[in-house]
Amino acid sequence: MEKSKKLLDKLFKRGKEFLGVEYPILGGAMSWISEAKLVSTISNEGGFGVLAGGNMPIDLFKDEITKTSDMTDKPFGVNLISIAPNFRAHLDHVLDREFPYIIFAGGLPPRDAINKVKQTSSKMLCFAPTVGIAKRLIDMGVDALIIEGHEAGGHIGPVSTSVLAEQILPHTSEVPVFVAGGIGSGLLMIHYLMMGASGVQLGTRFAVSEESIAHPNFKQAFIKAASKDAMPTAQFDPRVPVIPVRSITNKGVEDFTTLQLGLIAQMQRGALTAREAGMQLEEFWIGGLRKAVIDGDIEHGSLMAGQSVGIVSEIQSVHEIIHDMVERGIQESDRILSLINIKD
Ligand SMILES: Cc1cc2nc3c(=O)[nH]c(=O)nc-3n(C[C@H](O)[C@H](O)[C@H](O)COP(=O)(O)O)c2cc1C
Repeated sequence: MEKSKKLLDKLFKRGKEFLGVEYPILGGAMSWISEAKLVSTISNEGGFGVLAGGNMPIDLFKDEITKTSDMTDKPFGVNLISIAPNFRAHLDHVLDREFPYIIFAGGLPPRDAINKVKQTSSKMLCFAPTVGIAKRLIDMGVDALIIEGHEAGGHIGPVSTSVLAEQILPHTSEVPVFVAGGIGSGLLMIHYLMMGASGVQLGTRFAVSEESIAHPNFKQAFIKAASKDAMPTAQFDPRVPVIPVRSITNKGVEDFTTLQLGLIAQMQRGALTAREAGMQLEEFWIGGLRKAVIDGDIEHGSLMAGQSVGIVSEIQSVHEIIHDMVERGIQESDRILSLINIKD
């Protein structure tokens, strides 16, 4: 076990130093869910919490950052969605504060936003859903990547986590790379670390934690769901591009399909532009997620969840989740070491 712990320590080293934490395990930002309590608890337990900016009104956003800072003296990040209407206000605020860790989501961030962050002491992490975007982001000067695969919950990219990992991890030494999507335990974590990852990011498992503010109905729906129940949405007309969203199938997903088809029809009649249609589709998700997370309407609300939902079988505290990730990682290191003869 000593050797396994040493191996895990070695694999955690770059991510730990970059994030300034004990365990480079990120609690990925989840709109409505990743608020002060969950984020500060993850950081206080040695992981790295990430506050979801979502489309919060600016005053609420400022308050939430202050509240989280009051609840932990450990590092945490702020997630900004570049397609959210309040993005610029959020960005200006974190730039003013020189907030230490900024995570850009929602596609390739605008170049001026990247350049502005580079003029501060803040570290910037960006999502890379494809190998091409990973390369562009590194060229643009980001400090770290989060490669997020198709298995993840919420808005997703086109490529699976395993393929992204194989394409990116062994070839990227310039910046730390964190892996997200489909990770349910320390078992997979250790293998991505061995392939070169600096850490991992989980969303779905933390959504069901004791400290998550999600409604009990929402958590129970996750506990009951199998991996096959968390499906991505379809796009019916390329003129109205839809970023696929992975969620547990329910009436809300049917409502999304009806809305999409209705918007396409309106567009064909010239009553709507593609951009307006896209905005309405995104608004659907923000409202739908609130309905499920806050109001507990798991029939019509959105149950965004990754395929790892099939691995989540109980409500655990953040402390238990993080320690279970580490323990399972050590166990798997032990098994790996027993297969090969490593000298001290
Ligand atoms: C309910 C839910 C909401 C999410 N909201 C956001 C978000 O606002 N911003 C973001 O960058 N990622 C969001 N994500 C993605 C997570 O941060 C994380 O990368 C993803 O859940 C990892 O995959 P996993 O669900 O398989 O653990 C969300 C995921 C879920 C499940």
